[in-house]
Amino acid sequence: MTEPLAAGAFTGQVVLVTGASSGVGAALAHAFAGAGADVALFARNEADLERVADTCRQTGRNVLVVPGDVTRPADCRALVERTIHSFGRIDTVVAAAGLGMWARFDQLDDTDVIKRLLEVNVLGVANVFLSALPFVRASRGMLVAISSVQGVVGVPGRSGYAASKHALQGLCDSLRIELQGSGVGVSTIMAHWVRGTNLRARALGPDGAPRGSATPHRSRSAIDLDDLIRAVLAAVRGRKRRVFVPGYLRLLPLLAEIAPGLADRIVAGRMAGEAVEEPRG
Ligand SMILES: NC(=O)c1ccc[n+]([C@@H]2O[C@H](COP(=O)([O-])OP(=O)(O)OC[C@H]3O[C@@H](n4cnc5c(N)ncnc54)[C@H](OP(=O)(O)O)[C@@H]3O)[C@@H](O)[C@H]2O)c1
Repeated sequence: MTEPLAAGAFTGQVVLVTGASSGVGAALAHAFAGAGADVALFARNEADLERVADTCRQTGRNVLVVPGDVTRPADCRALVERTIHSFGRIDTVVAAAGLGMWARFDQLDDTDVIKRLLEVNVLGVANVFLSALPFVRASRGMLVAISSVQGVVGVPGRSGYAASKHALQGLCDSLRIELQGSGVGVSTIMAHWVRGTNLRARALGPDGAPRGSATPHRSRSAIDLDDLIRAVLAAVRGRKRRVFVPGYLRLLPLLAEIAPGLADRIVAGRMAGEAVEEPRG
C-alpha cells in the first residue's frame, strides 16, 4: 500500500471516497487515512468495502462504510447524511466510482452501454457532488473527480467511456467557475491506464456484460497505482484544477489541436495491441 504523502497532512479532515471497494478508490481511502484523515467509503459491494475499511482502520483513523450506488441519488444523500452524522464535516469528496468500456461503436446493437457509462461516470459523480456540496462549501474544501486522459482525447474501442469522461470534464470545469469565490476547489485527475485495478476486467463489452478478464497486453506506458495515488493527494493539497498523470500527457490535447492527424495516429498506435474484435456480421 501507498506510503503517506506526509504523515498528518490531512489530520482533522474528513474525506469521502466513492468507488472505495476496489482499485483507485480503495488505494486512495487507505492513503488518505494514512495521511491522517477520517474516511467515508462508498460503493455497492459491502464485503469488499469492509475489507478496505479494515486496512484503513490499521492507520488508527475512523472509518465509515456506506454501501450504495452512485446512480441512485437517495444513496448519495444517505452517504452524506451518515458521514455528517459520524464525523460532523466533509473536507474532500473524491469521486472514483467508475465503469469502463471495451467494444467498438459498430459492435453495439443499441446505445444501452453508452447510457450506462454516462449514468455511472457522469451522473454518478454529479449525484455525489450535489449531495456533498453544502458541506464542502462549509469547509471550503475540494471536489475531486478521477477522470482520464480520455476526458480530452477520443480513443477507439472506448467511445462511450471517452464520451463520459469528456462530459465529466465539462461538468467539473463549469462547476469550478460557478464556485469561484466560495472557497471550494474542483480538481480533475486525467490519468493514463493504471496497473492493478479491476477497470478492464469489469469494462462493458458490446452486449453490456463485463468482458470478465483483462487481456495479457498492457501498454508499457501504463502507470503504477501508487504513482496515481501520490498525484491525487498532492492535487488535493495543492488545490490543483487539473492534473495529468503522467505529466507529459498534457501535451496530447495540444498536439490534437496542432497536428490532429498525428495525434489520432499516436492514439491508434497505442490501442493497436488492445483486443477489440472486428464488428459482427
Ligand atoms: N484503471 C485505469 O486504467 C484508469 C485510468 C484512468 C482513470 N480511471 C478511473 O479511475 C476510477 C476508478 O477505476 P478503477 O480503475 O479503480 O476501477 P475498479 O477497480 O473497477 O473500481 C471501480 C470502483 O467503482 C465502483 N463502482 C462502479 N459502479 C458503481 C456504482 N454504480 N455505484 C457505486 N460504486 C460503483 C466499484 O465498486 P462496486 O462494484 O462495489 O460498486 C469499484 O469500487 C474510474 O472512474 C476510472 O474511470 C481508471
